[in-house]
Amino acid sequence: METINISSSLYDYTVDFVDSFQDQLKALTGSITYVIDKNVYDLYRDRFSGLDESVIYFMEPVESKKNMDTVMDIIMFWKNLGVRKNWKVVCFGGGISQDVTTIAANLFLRNIDWYFFPTTLLAMCDSCIGGKCGINLGPYKNQIGVFYPPKKIFIDVHFLNTLSENDYINGWGELLKFSLTDGIEFYNELKKETQFIPCENIAAYIYKGLNVKKKIIEQDEFESDLRRVLNYGHTFGHALEAYTHNEISHGRAVIWGIDVVNFMAYRQGLIGEDFYLDVKNLIKQAFQKEEIIIEDPKQLFDIIKTDKKVKANTLSFAFLDAPSHLIVYPMTIDDSLQQLFIDYIKETHEYYCH
Ligand SMILES: NC(=O)c1ccc[n+]([C@@H]2O[C@H](COP(=O)([O-])OP(=O)(O)OC[C@H]3O[C@@H](n4cnc5c(N)ncnc54)[C@H](O)[C@@H]3O)[C@@H](O)[C@H]2O)c1
Ligand SMILES: [Zn+2]
Repeated sequence: METINISSSLYDYTVDFVDSFQDQLKALTGSITYVIDKNVYDLYRDRFSGLDESVIYFMEPVESKKNMDTVMDIIMFWKNLGVRKNWKVVCFGGGISQDVTTIAANLFLRNIDWYFFPTTLLAMCDSCIGGKCGINLGPYKNQIGVFYPPKKIFIDVHFLNTLSENDYINGWGELLKFSLTDGIEFYNELKKETQFIPCENIAAYIYKGLNVKKKIIEQDEFESDLRRVLNYGHTFGHALEAYTHNEISHGRAVIWGIDVVNFMAYRQGLIGEDFYLDVKNLIKQAFQKEEIIIEDPKQLFDIIKTDKKVKANTLSFAFLDAPSHLIVYPMTIDDSLQQLFIDYIKETHEYYCH
């Protein structure tokens, strides 16, 4: 896989696919401190064996730790270690470790360089580029953030061998989204895949996903308009996460959310029924063998009504207007949209019962 170069108004940076992260670690010179996901460190202890543990901050990868207290804890750890501006911070982990490292590295000494080895599929195929981060403010998710990309990103897909099925699906949610964002080839390739979890061809899909995201963030780095297509499947997905009190994980929820908005795009006459069903079949075969039952669709729709992106009773959705082409499509949040959602629930139920 070739190096991916990302241009950014802050500085350009790269993504490299590597055979062994240890070789890359050896190639990073100078004074280095690490932020490493605790579970990853335990799983790969042998391969980290050359590192001095006293320069590692061990990150507990749970949402309740993705906050300013942890960021301050990391910064104090660096201060006590004597970290200076010319040091490097190297992070290993998923989105949680990435988000706290981004903010800490951005704030400490008005910013120090950081390098990222993503270890989850979601972080490899999506969050590692774009420079965006979000940490939680008490119970409110991702309220505090900065844009501060790593200098280099190294992807070693061997890390995925130990990933749980749920975390694998979290990555697939974003990959399915990218496959439906920019051109039909990627989607057609996914349709031919026979084994999704684990997936032998995953490096090629990550590479394609990152290239789709690269195009979008290079045109719209700070999330004004175009980047909104990256919310494809996410409005209903987030509502499902909230409705189930996070019992359904992000990836499964986004995949379901993609199906919901595809139904709406079909019923708005933007895409044909064929394509809506085509994607639905892929979702059913690959990721959602059982129906997600929504006992109270009105309650779920109430969550949509309170979405922070609702403005003047209107919400912009990312809808397909052709196979693998997304547009930002405003819809009024009213009874007819609610009815459309209830129709989706009914039709999907019939689809699964057949
Ligand atoms: N900054 C962004 O652009 C962005 C984008 C999407 C999501 N996020 C954030 O990312 C977080 C989710 O991140 P995530 O899904 O990457 O994972 P995560 O960091 O939440 O980790 C999930 C679990 O996977 C484990 N894990 C990590 N690598 C592993 C490996 N190789 N083998 C076995 N287990 C491993 C972790 O220890 C943890 O238990 C959320 O907080 C979300 O808000 C950020
Ligand atoms: Zn997502």
